[in-house]
Amino acid sequence: MTPFTIAVLPGDGIGPEVIAEAERVLEAVGERFKVKLALSRFPIGAVAVASAGDPLPAETRAAVQGADAVLLGAVGDPSLDKAPRHLRPETGLLALRALLGVYANLRPVTVYAVLADRSPLKPERLHGVDLLIVRELTGGLYYGEPRGRDETRAVNTLTYSAAEVERVARVAFEAARERRGLVTSVDKANVLEVSQLWRDVVTRVGRDYADVRLEHLYVDFAAMKLIAEPAAFDVILTENMFGDILSDEAAVLVGSLGLLPSASLGAGTGLFEPIHGSAPAIAGQGIANPLGAIASAAMLLRHGLRLAEPAAAIDRAIQAVLAEGYRTRDIAGPGDQSIGTKEMGERVVERLGEAMRPSPPPRSRSTPASRT
Ligand code: NAD
Ligand code: IPM
Ligand code: MN
Repeated sequence: MTPFTIAVLPGDGIGPEVIAEAERVLEAVGERFKVKLALSRFPIGAVAVASAGDPLPAETRAAVQGADAVLLGAVGDPSLDKAPRHLRPETGLLALRALLGVYANLRPVTVYAVLADRSPLKPERLHGVDLLIVRELTGGLYYGEPRGRDETRAVNTLTYSAAEVERVARVAFEAARERRGLVTSVDKANVLEVSQLWRDVVTRVGRDYADVRLEHLYVDFAAMKLIAEPAAFDVILTENMFGDILSDEAAVLVGSLGLLPSASLGAGTGLFEPIHGSAPAIAGQGIANPLGAIASAAMLLRHGLRLAEPAAAIDRAIQAVLAEGYRTRDIAGPGDQSIGTKEMGERVVERLGEAMRPSPPPRSRSTPASRT
């Protein structure tokens, strides 16, 4: 059997730390499920600027285009915050998304019941929260031309074509069909022409999905409702920048940015990355939460390689480890002892064996095993 090739782009800051644990889990899954996965690393972001003078070097471009899936950590380095655009780490990530044509970014937001006390929201508000943000990823303000600045003026351009809106809308409606049958499209149609086009196109596409209910919200109210009544959402469909903002906001429901994964999909190779960034303040300390990266590896198996069983095993292992009370610092409560990035990865690998049996009985949080 030819192996699946996975291009691994660890990136900057905590990226390499969390990706090392995702790799550990993928390797364990490969062994246990007898799936051949060939993982190779390539530079992106600030490390690539340092080594090749380019945040997305030719070597990395070639590798991702030939891969079956791409796993990415995070990019970003404060030392390059004032660098010209072509030398910014974020430019490498945007170029990667454009190169792969991954226009639909799926950001599932699942509240782990055992972490309900880690959210500032009242537990009753979190009950039943299970939503999916479908963020348009290769258009909008991030990519619009003209763009630029001089000393006294700057410009960015928000533009979408009907075709760009339609293809991502279809992804959202298809997803809602498999879920609870509700799409909430988020825009600013009371002000922006682009949003008016967005709303018209989404409404038209929605007619093809009679079994899915469609509602439209303005982004300001959507941001409020996401905190006030998060269980009211199923699939949130929105443009690039609104989706970026709303997904970090949604992390508050779950308890930490470090928990949330994503899958970016188009016609070809998919890109899988946690939604968080390079977290420079905690980089190098071995304390970052790797579960978002590990859950992204699960999405890679599910959406990128169509390996649903091993993906589900990883998700169950994450649930089991959390149910046992293991916590990295970002999700540790008062009185909880925390474990490091590497140990969290190791715990997930240990539970993988158990998770291969369907529905393992999660141990109660009141018996937190022998944590060190
Ligand atoms: P960030 O996501 O890096 O960090 C925000 C906060 O969340 C910080 O307090 C950080 O310590 C915490 N955090 C993030 N991930 C964590 C994890 N896995 N475990 C524990 N805590 C975690 O966002 P920021 O500080 O706004 O940006 C830092 C850099 O990352 C910038 O250069 C930015 O451009 C970049 N960035 C990159 C990506 C990406 O590569 N996809 C995403 C967001 C930000
Ligand atoms: C994300 C990040 C990126 C984005 C940045 C680093 C370009 O915030 O993946 O959410 O805005 O898309
Ligand atoms: Mn973001």
